[in-house]
Formats: sequence, C-alpha cells, structure tokens
Amino acid sequence: MILLTGATGLIGSALLRRLTAAGRPVRCLVRDPRRLGPERVRVQIALGDLADPPSFRNALRGVSTVVHLAAAIRDQPQGSIEELNGIATWRMVEAADRAGVEHFVFFSAQSATSHSRARFMRAKAVAERAVAESGVRHTIFAPSIVYAPGDIFLTMLERLAWLPVLPISGRGQALFQPIWADDVADCVVAALDREPANGGARYELSGPETLSYDAIAELAMRAAGRQRRLVHVPTPLVSRSLRAVEALMKSKAPATWDEAELMEITMTSSHGTADAESLGVVPKRMAAVLGAA
Ligand SMILES: NC(=O)c1ccc[n+]([C@@H]2O[C@H](COP(=O)([O-])OP(=O)(O)OC[C@H]3O[C@@H](n4cnc5c(N)ncnc54)[C@H](OP(=O)(O)O)[C@@H]3O)[C@@H](O)[C@H]2O)c1
Repeated sequence: MILLTGATGLIGSALLRRLTAAGRPVRCLVRDPRRLGPERVRVQIALGDLADPPSFRNALRGVSTVVHLAAAIRDQPQGSIEELNGIATWRMVEAADRAGVEHFVFFSAQSATSHSRARFMRAKAVAERAVAESGVRHTIFAPSIVYAPGDIFLTMLERLAWLPVLPISGRGQALFQPIWADDVADCVVAALDREPANGGARYELSGPETLSYDAIAELAMRAAGRQRRLVHVPTPLVSRSLRAVEALMKSKAPATWDEAELMEITMTSSHGTADAESLGVVPKRMAAVLGAA
C-alpha cells in the first residue's frame, strides 16, 4: 500500500492518475476527500492534516511506501509554514519509521537551504534533513518550479493580464528551469520501482530551459494569446501591500508576501535534465506544453 499525501495538488493529482491507472493500491491522506474528484472512488481515504500528527499514525497502517507531497507556501489557521513543512515532515518520517515503512519519498525544492531568505525554503531544508537522517530508505526530489496548463500560478498570471500592464513583483530576474507536473509524476513512478543506493537517493528535477520570471510571464502571456508590457513593482512595496492584505483577510488573502517572495529566489540545478533522464524521463519545453508559439 502506498500512502500519498498532497494527492489533490498539482503533482499529486498527476501522480495519482498514474498510480490508479497502473492498479497500484493507494491510500490518500486528505483534508477533504471531495477535492480528489473522480479518483476518490479508486483509493482508500485517510482523513488527516499536516497539523494533526495522530492522523499520520492511522494513515500509515499497513503502508510500505509513503509519497509525501503535501506542503504549504502560506501560513494556515492550523499551523505556520515552518510547522506544516518542517515539523510535520519530521513527524511524518518518524511515524513512518515506527510503522515499518520501507521507502519514504519526499519533495523538497531546489534552493531549499537553512539560510534562504524565504521561510518556506528554510522549512524545506529542515524537512529534507529530517528525511535524509531518518532510518527509513528514502528518495528525495528537489524540483525547480513545477507547472501545468491551468495551474494556480499560470491562472493568476492570466487573470492579472486583464490589467493593461502585467505587474511583476521585484526585478523578475530570478531564474527557473520549469518542469511539467506530468514529467515530475513520471519521475516519481520510475523512482518507486528503484532501490535507492546506500539507503537514500536524491534527484534534482529541472526542465530543459533556464528562464527568468519575466521570461516565464511573457511565455504565459503568449500561450494565453495576450500581449502585455511587464511592469516591475519594487519589492518593499509588494511586501508591505501583501502583508497588509494578509493582516486584513487572513487565510482568504488572494496572495501573500511569502508566496510572492518565492518568485525572487533562483531555482536552478547544475544537473539540468540529467536526473530526470536517469529515471527515463525527458522533460518537455514549457512553450511546447503550453502551446505557446
Ligand atoms: N509546484 C512547484 O513549483 C514546486 C516546486 C518545488 C517543490 N515543490 C514541492 O512539491 C510538492 C508538491 O507540490 P504541488 O505544487 O503539487 O503542491 P500544491 O499543488 O500546492 O498542493 C499542495 C497539497 O498539499 C495539501 N495540503 C496543504 N496543506 C495541508 C494540510 N494542512 N494538511 C494536509 N494536506 C495539506 C493540499 O491539499 P488540499 O487539497 O487540502 O489543499 C494539496 O494536496 C510539495 O512538497 C512542494 O513543496 C513544488
């Protein structure tokens, strides 16, 4: 039995489709099973929350492999970014060890270091260390930015394009190697059948191109059939405005500073596409996936 967390998310939904199509038994730890859509009738459901460690114990019964994707890039009423990404992963891998899990697959992120300026990246670094130092055989994935047509990020850019100019937080110069969620899911499926050498493996997942945030925004505009001039909004102005919005609207805020700040952090790997290719996956170009000329 595979325990999948984050099954309703961008990568999780692409992965779940592949696992159920292959007839693999899956249990999903979810907050709201309705968000699984039609897949919910093909899996076991364990109600749970990253902020509720006892829910991990129940979910882990009889599980041989955990794929831990659930994560949060903004604070939630039940827990902070640090609790939901760092401490929850540490608790999850400890619970998995106690439950006799044989393989723990975890998603970190490129540029996740303990000295990053972004809280999310620091929390992921703590989480990655907890997994790497656990007694469980593990596979760690560190992707650059992951996308799919119609995802939250591209939809937000398309909505902003209703304005006469496209506002970009900061200088728009941070670099990314965007990789399609379907390519990432194929990498996970391949890794599930591999024995990690020396108890642990780590793959940096990147697409074939290195693009700045500006270049990604321009590509997304081309795919949406709109032409907009990019206008860079100074970081202090963005951070002050988004913090004020979050203070007023709490978890209902349309965007938070913690999310916007992530687009100012370069996420590239010197491995390029080599790690994905070592798993038999050749990542596609973003323009090809989005159908941008
Ligand atoms: N997308 C990227 O660009 C990117 C880049 C680097 C690393 N990663 C990592 O890859 C993994 C998957 O990313 P993704 O983009 O697929 O994520 P996503 O689309 O943002 O989805 C997040 C998932 O986590 C679940 N979740 C959030 N808070 C939860 C909580 N308190 N308790 C239980 N579940 C909770 C969500 O479930 P609900 O349906 O209940 O909200 C959802 O299934 C994450 O670990 C992420 O950090 C992603």
